[in-house]
Amino acid sequence: MKTIIRKMTGEDRETAEEAARIWRAGGLVAFPTETVYGLGGNGLDASASEKIYAAKCRPSDNPLILHIAERSQLDGLVTEITPQAEILMDRFWPGPLTLIFNKSERVPLETTGGLTTAAIRMPSHPVAHYLLQVAGIPIAAPSANRSGRPSPTNAHHVIEDLDGRVEMIIDGGDVGIGVESTIVDLTGGVPCLLRPGYITVEDLEAAVGKISLDPAIYHQVSADVHPKAPGMKYRHYAPKADMAIVEGNDAAVVDYINRQISEHPEKKTGVLATDENARKYRGGIVLCAGDQNDMAEVAHNLFKILREFDDLGVDQIYSESFTTKGEGLAVMNRLMKAAGHTVIRLEGADNDSHWM
Ligand code: TXA
Ligand code: MG
Repeated sequence: MKTIIRKMTGEDRETAEEAARIWRAGGLVAFPTETVYGLGGNGLDASASEKIYAAKCRPSDNPLILHIAERSQLDGLVTEITPQAEILMDRFWPGPLTLIFNKSERVPLETTGGLTTAAIRMPSHPVAHYLLQVAGIPIAAPSANRSGRPSPTNAHHVIEDLDGRVEMIIDGGDVGIGVESTIVDLTGGVPCLLRPGYITVEDLEAAVGKISLDPAIYHQVSADVHPKAPGMKYRHYAPKADMAIVEGNDAAVVDYINRQISEHPEKKTGVLATDENARKYRGGIVLCAGDQNDMAEVAHNLFKILREFDDLGVDQIYSESFTTKGEGLAVMNRLMKAAGHTVIRLEGADNDSHWM
């Protein structure tokens, strides 16, 4: 299929109507959100959801998030809205927070990967918001990457993965946040964080009190376990090269990575570095994720850098380790998945680390 590619920054009625026509006819349109690009289809149309899985080569037991423009769209999709849900929506919608509710009959099981719950989010990105408003239907949208690749943070990444596989790609430039939305399950008693993101544990607890953290955030889940967010069991974001995270004090980390570079001159080594240490590496291809104290900046750059290492054809990647405070939990969660949980612990590594 020939993919239509359109630039869109503001409220461009013509492009939005073109996208809405494709969605209503059961087709797929990729579009920017504030987190990452999404691959959208009509979330109430079982066959559109099946097309999404096929275009991404994604296992169909991994449920999709429904995207809405207005609070009024929620009522028909879920069976109950708890007081905690009200608080979280008032506080964080529109924005990068996905909430899990018990689903109504209207939401097809094909969209929810067979689950009786549904994930819902109201994006704040002006292009996403306008597209959803003009379409007037809930749009199911996973990240717009081929399954197993890092989520796309610009239209070029989407074109790399999906050109010729979807009806339309809307290019709205670079996304702001760069990691996928925070997911909170509200179907149990205590709200449970299933996926960390830009809205942090600290933000959530300030709004609704103590929340629980799903163990799949920290640990690799074995094939026979069913984590609450089925997507958490897959090795996402895997770069093509072998990757390890090096944990310890700055001097130990830099020294270890420098030794790997000098002991393996035959290998093309990528280093995912912080601003503080980037200039200390001797050799290798050093890509800088940002300041050690600015996890929002690191989150913003992370997936772009993993794709860059793929493009550069490195054989191995060593990454520095980051704090798990604030947005750092989202960064470390994605990094650990990318590295298949390979961690090298040196002097100064945190012995109470949840990742152990
Ligand atoms: O920021 C985002 O959330 C992006 C943009 C496009 O909105 N979307 C995104 O979708 O990251 P995706 O499909 O790549 O990730 C959705 C995650 C998966 O881990 C999936 O298992 C989980 O949400 N999920 C979806 N529905 C669920 C449900 N009913 N219960 C538990 N987890 C669910
Ligand atoms: Mg994804």
